[in-house]
Amino acid sequence: MHPDTEVDVAGLVLRSPLMVASGVLGSSPSLIRIIATNPDVGAVVTKTVTYRPRTGYENPTLVDLGYGFLNAMGLPNPGYSEYRFELGSIKKSLEIPLIVSIGPSDEGEAEEMVEELDSVADGFEVNLSCPHVENLGMEVGSDASKASGIVKAVRGSTGKPVLVKISPNVTDFVANARSAVEAGADAITAINTVRGMAIDVNAMRPVLSNVYGGLSGKAIHPVAVRIVFELYEKIKAPIVGCGGVYDWRDAVELILAGATAVQIGSAIAHSQTGLKVFNEIGEGVRRYLALKGFSSVKQIIGLAHS
Ligand code: SIN
Repeated sequence: MHPDTEVDVAGLVLRSPLMVASGVLGSSPSLIRIIATNPDVGAVVTKTVTYRPRTGYENPTLVDLGYGFLNAMGLPNPGYSEYRFELGSIKKSLEIPLIVSIGPSDEGEAEEMVEELDSVADGFEVNLSCPHVENLGMEVGSDASKASGIVKAVRGSTGKPVLVKISPNVTDFVANARSAVEAGADAITAINTVRGMAIDVNAMRPVLSNVYGGLSGKAIHPVAVRIVFELYEKIKAPIVGCGGVYDWRDAVELILAGATAVQIGSAIAHSQTGLKVFNEIGEGVRRYLALKGFSSVKQIIGLAHS
């Protein structure tokens, strides 16, 4: 038996429930083109683009802690206009949905960005959760009326699916997700990184140039599972799970908790086999489904609740 791995995230039909998470490989169009040929990749989310170009923070911007990465890149990107041009050069050759991650700081920026990027995007992921950049990400996402205004502006500027990526660094993430859905989000991506820091004990100084960063990888997986599980019971929108998916068990766990699809990020960098991690996880998920007697991955979404 070959279980069906197709899923539908708010109208985006994915051949595999495995997506490339924002910020990992989705910054260079030529890389996106290569990733998209992998049959176990269902969609790619790009690196977050902002209204204006950003150089990002000075090095060090990334620390490998073994159990995860701590990063504070500072949202480096060429700005939405230049990025639209770059994505335009590959869009037609992609067989899978391209989800453009955007980090607007207000409604006006959101409207302009989405109107221009609409021709190269199959959907949008609104980053209201980067935990360490002033006036962007979590700072915007924590201001309920600002966040809701941005999501409304995105909704009003595109007919394509809108995902909102939420932060685990707030107490009331359910309220944030609910208000995003009320403002027009079609799906919620949970979670972005967990705010953290590392200190170099020899230098006796913070490791990251920005001092604070976001923790991703294995260490945050149980947090992601818990948040997806809670959201599944409390919001009426599909959830895309993200956080520490390193093997098929991690992916299945998030799906059983309620995720329709899952994003993979840090595992790509930690894996000995690079992008083959998608095939290893995909194969593992199919074997699991077959062993348990399911004909489709859709049948196990949220099953841990019953
Ligand atoms: C970064 O570019 O610093 C990370 C982006 C994010 O966490 O959303």
